[in-house]
Amino acid sequence: QPLLKTQLLGKTIEYIASTESTQIIAHQLAQTGVSHGTAVLAEEQTAGRGRMARKWDSAYGKGIWMSIILRPDIPVQRAPQFTLIAAVAVVRAIEEVTGLRPDIKWPNDILVNGKKCTGILTELQSDADGIQALIIGIGLNANQEADDFSEEVRNIATSLKMETGKHVSRQELVRSILFYLEQYTEIYIKEGFGVLKLMWESYSTTIGKKVRARMARETLEGIAEGITDDGVLQLRTADGKLHGIYSADIEMEK
Ligand code: BTN
Repeated sequence: QPLLKTQLLGKTIEYIASTESTQIIAHQLAQTGVSHGTAVLAEEQTAGRGRMARKWDSAYGKGIWMSIILRPDIPVQRAPQFTLIAAVAVVRAIEEVTGLRPDIKWPNDILVNGKKCTGILTELQSDADGIQALIIGIGLNANQEADDFSEEVRNIATSLKMETGKHVSRQELVRSILFYLEQYTEIYIKEGFGVLKLMWESYSTTIGKKVRARMARETLEGIAEGITDDGVLQLRTADGKLHGIYSADIEMEK
């Protein structure tokens, strides 16, 4: 694969025309012991999945439906940082290939002009020895038209083509995503999360804003003050208390 600019990521690519979900395939492959950096790509997913048990529109040939298997030697509680790193890698790739300037909405939604063009779903295989595999699922809307989206998401979703008016190369995007993800993984392993956290913050639209965080049991409103080194959102409510938000749906005030 002469076009790939990576040492490890994407050196093995499992390419499938149609599957339920590349996450499922990646989980199976990870259990058979495939190497760090193996990527699963599909033209179409018939049951693509998003965070919080939502479904993910994955029309044939229109986007990047990819799951990457990573085997980092890090403690389980650091895994969420990888979601944030993956978001930065995807943002950089979109910038490089299209010239658009995407934003990140905590934890991992990538927005262009306020609409979602990419979602990231990180899943973990772990045991008493720690992380066996991190499965990073990336769903990137590349060449859809508004009609390609299901009605539920049509108002909140967009594609790179809808934003640029031009067809975008999925091949270039995949190459660039893998390149940046590899580079940032290396930085992360050598230097830790510090610089990557700064990069994430520089793209984030959430930090400094008044937000509403919907969680399974409660909804909190307040100012998103920042993220911790573990990627936990710090939310300050009107009573002055600081809350650590691990997982939620975020609504932002305009
Ligand atoms: C989200 O924003 O809720 C995350 C969406 C993740 C979608 C990707 S597409 C490739 C991989 N396979 C899946 O079934 N989901 C992820």
